[in-house]
Amino acid sequence: MLLESERLIIRDWNDSDLRPSRNMNADPHVMRYFPSVLSSAESDAFVERCKSKIGRDGFSLFPLELKESGKFKGTAGLSPPDYEKPLPFEPCVEIGWRSPVSSWRKGYGSEAARALLGFGFETLGLDEIVSFTATLNKRSARVMERIGLARYHDSDFMHPMIAEGDSLRPHIPYRMQRATWCQSAPCRIHVKQAYTSAIQERSPVRIPSESFSFGTSTIESDAE
Ligand SMILES: CC(C)(COP(=O)(O)OP(=O)(O)OC[C@H]1O[C@@H](n2cnc3c(N)ncnc32)[C@H](O)[C@@H]1OP(=O)(O)O)[C@@H](O)C(=O)NCCC(=O)NCCS
Repeated sequence: MLLESERLIIRDWNDSDLRPSRNMNADPHVMRYFPSVLSSAESDAFVERCKSKIGRDGFSLFPLELKESGKFKGTAGLSPPDYEKPLPFEPCVEIGWRSPVSSWRKGYGSEAARALLGFGFETLGLDEIVSFTATLNKRSARVMERIGLARYHDSDFMHPMIAEGDSLRPHIPYRMQRATWCQSAPCRIHVKQAYTSAIQERSPVRIPSESFSFGTSTIESDAE
């Protein structure tokens, strides 16, 4: 297990995630703001790519599991964009999310994203995390705003991999800097205490839920 939030476990992939991932990625409603739905083979290949990036870098997109039922609730994670053509603000690390429609409007996307911001800033030590979405994708932009990302003013861009004239081409970028994440005194104090005691006790880092001004999360990592 990598991360735990109030209702979710954000963990490594296993074979039981393949089928719900295929269903999610084949749903035109979920994929409405992407160029196309994914076939089962494309969905499985996507999971394989995530697994190999996690093996190489320690992070990518992870499956979300609901604690109370063990059910798949989508994917979320951090990853450097790797399109054939660069985005205007690269190099960067992107935070992203995708859930089956049955899991929308329950707060899971934002809950996972808050935990991943904590992981990115506190465990990976990132200075900045960005996110971006097709301008039409208001639901995803609302997640970005809900978790405290700020819009890059005047930096809307045309996605270089989407054809001119396609309504999905205009994109809006958001970002958060480490200083913003850690600006609240409780966050700094709790994180420091959690790391200090974990190192002394040689146990996982458990950061109390009240640590974060943007939401609740518990970060687990190897204290050594
Ligand atoms: C993007 C996506 C994950 C957002 O889903 P979402 O349900 O709107 O966002 P969250 O999971 O954060 O849930 C927030 C909603 O749950 C509601 N909610 C219900 N119970 C809640 C709870 N216990 N806690 C928090 N929020 C709760 C909130 O009021 C909010 O609803 P609203 O936006 O209608 O006001 C989802 O739309 C999706 O997977 N889209 C397809 C893939 C995609 O576009 N990905 C992004 C590409 S850039």
